[in-house]
Amino acid sequence: VVPLQFAPTLVAWQRRHGRHELPWQNTRDPYRVWLSEIMLQQTQVTTVLGYYQRFLERFPAVSDLAAASLDEVLALWAGLGYYSRARNLHACAQAVMTLHGGEFPRSAAGLQTLPGIGRSTAAAVAAFCFGERVAILDGNVKRVLGRLLAFDGDLASSAEEKRLWAFATELLPAEAIESYTQGLMDLGASICSSRSPQCLLCPVADLCAGRIEGEPTRYPVKTRK
Ligand code: ADE
Repeated sequence: VVPLQFAPTLVAWQRRHGRHELPWQNTRDPYRVWLSEIMLQQTQVTTVLGYYQRFLERFPAVSDLAAASLDEVLALWAGLGYYSRARNLHACAQAVMTLHGGEFPRSAAGLQTLPGIGRSTAAAVAAFCFGERVAILDGNVKRVLGRLLAFDGDLASSAEEKRLWAFATELLPAEAIESYTQGLMDLGASICSSRSPQCLLCPVADLCAGRIEGEPTRYPVKTRK
């Protein structure tokens, strides 16, 4: 069983101490949220900020991105790395135009059918834009939840990863999925860092099995495949 107080405590903390002024917050436009989530997959917020602004200036809507050449998209992406993200970005914009009438699907399941949108990215967009109650599980969230639950399964195993997805779903709040989802990201980006978590500042330290055991950085377990 998962700690029932985790979600409401995280929501309250996010509202008071989390990030609220990032350029992709305070919008429910799936194009803007999707673009930010793709850029943030392997790149820090401070690096993404400038690229995000330039992309939206050049491509204000998904139709503009779809109509551009791949070469132009790659040129604007230059420096962000992981260029398959830019190729999928372009393919996804074209799929939204040709297969979905210019509108992003309004569910995580629908979003996940699009190029470059995996389970966690689909869930983040669906939670932020449509308030869908679905779990995210990116690298930072695996760390936060792995510690919270003292999850000792090896995440190199797809069965164990699936088991952590199930726990992530059990932990979801009944309401305020937007603040909860952002709270997971904010906690992972600030207090629950990889090498030296600041447990003294953590709103859920009392609930964290990894901290209570005394060695939160043991989690999550990941051997080389
Ligand atoms: N990393 C991934 N998604 C993010 C978001 N919405 N805000 C801040 N950092 C993120």
